[in-house]
Amino acid sequence: MEWDAVTTPGVHLRFGPSILWRLRPYWGGPQSESALPRPTRILQSIQPYVFTTLIRKKRVLLDQGHRVLDLSLGSPDQPMPPALIEAVAVAARDTTGHGYPAMFGETALHETFAAYMQRRFGVTLDVPAEMVPTAGAKEALAHLVTAYCEPGDTMLITDVAYPVYERAVASSGAELVRLPVREADGFWPDLEAIPADQARRAKFLLLNFPNNPTGAVTTRERWAEAVAYCRRHDIILISDIAYSELVLEGDPAPSVFEIEGAKEVAVEIHSGSKNFSMAGLRLGEVCGRREVITALNDYRTLVGYGVPTVVQRAGTFAFAHAEELAAVLREGYRARFDAAVAGFADAGVRVKAPPAGMYLWVPVPPGMTDWEVTEQLLAEERIVITPGSGFGPGGTPYIRISMVAPPDVLRDACRRAAAPWAAAAVG
Ligand SMILES: Cc1ncc(COP(=O)(O)O)c(C=O)c1O
Repeated sequence: MEWDAVTTPGVHLRFGPSILWRLRPYWGGPQSESALPRPTRILQSIQPYVFTTLIRKKRVLLDQGHRVLDLSLGSPDQPMPPALIEAVAVAARDTTGHGYPAMFGETALHETFAAYMQRRFGVTLDVPAEMVPTAGAKEALAHLVTAYCEPGDTMLITDVAYPVYERAVASSGAELVRLPVREADGFWPDLEAIPADQARRAKFLLLNFPNNPTGAVTTRERWAEAVAYCRRHDIILISDIAYSELVLEGDPAPSVFEIEGAKEVAVEIHSGSKNFSMAGLRLGEVCGRREVITALNDYRTLVGYGVPTVVQRAGTFAFAHAEELAAVLREGYRARFDAAVAGFADAGVRVKAPPAGMYLWVPVPPGMTDWEVTEQLLAEERIVITPGSGFGPGGTPYIRISMVAPPDVLRDACRRAAAPWAAAAVG
């Protein structure tokens, strides 16, 4: 497939307008060639999401009548715990909550979230000035970027990162700067190596620990380093802590606000999706520096009415019972990792479970690329995994397998998925 270069000044994207048009059949859009106005150049020039490409490949197999196991997206297969489902039902039955929601969050949600931050991290937040609920962390990120970034700005992210960061920045016309990371450094970037010019233009430094896709965790000392760096350079530090409760080994994940002075520069994004299996309900919470929360709120008044009341009330229940709810789901992930590692071992291949998260991040076998492994598993085993390059160039020597199937299914799938590694070991 050929791609068009984009030449618009200030738009630092690699692919051009025709790609979205070419992909329309996969979205089921109309095929007419009418002369209707087209979406913006920026929107048309955003390259396809790695998961869009994978869904397309999966669709081909499904259309041929194959059964396919999808271990690419990180959509939890464990349902919400029953008590949380009941909280949703209670909220839905309360007819006083059927009007427009509290745009900046219900008081009960604020207070429960603040109590969770105090209990879990020893962090005190001002209610409501230092927090706002959002429809998930992804929305929060997109809204923060839109509220702050425009052409000429930069945003600093790690070279291996949740792909939505890149897409959010692209949609604002700002430039993304990828900071190299290495497994040996725990996937933490060398902040002192950032060129002065890039630091000067940066609006945000965005860090995600526990990390998707690597499963890496970090320490208070490193957060202190990031806070000091951002204070020195007047950059807003975003801590994406969407996997805060999914640490399976070692100490619980720290919040950036455990660091003295963090509230001067940081906001932190929490999510119900993985911690409480609420991905389908869409609950995020952004907290921290109040001026950033105010700007976020200002932007959010332009684009919606806030988080649905039922979701806010489910979130109130979830944060009130965070530790118990997450403990059950964490055990589920532990069992899934054990099964996946055992499946590889059944085929004579050693892989290591990460300390946190819900993904196996596995180096590709010698002599193969991430896409070759992905294509082989699709063609031969009908298993969809994610090539590491989908998370940035630094991810190229890896593939990611999501722990989103029951343990018995994962064990069997990983035994079959181990074929390229087993062959490399024999060869
Ligand atoms: C690092 C990271 N941040 C944020 C999100 C999105 O979370 P949410 O479902 O709350 O939008 C994900 C989802 O996979 C993620 O991996």
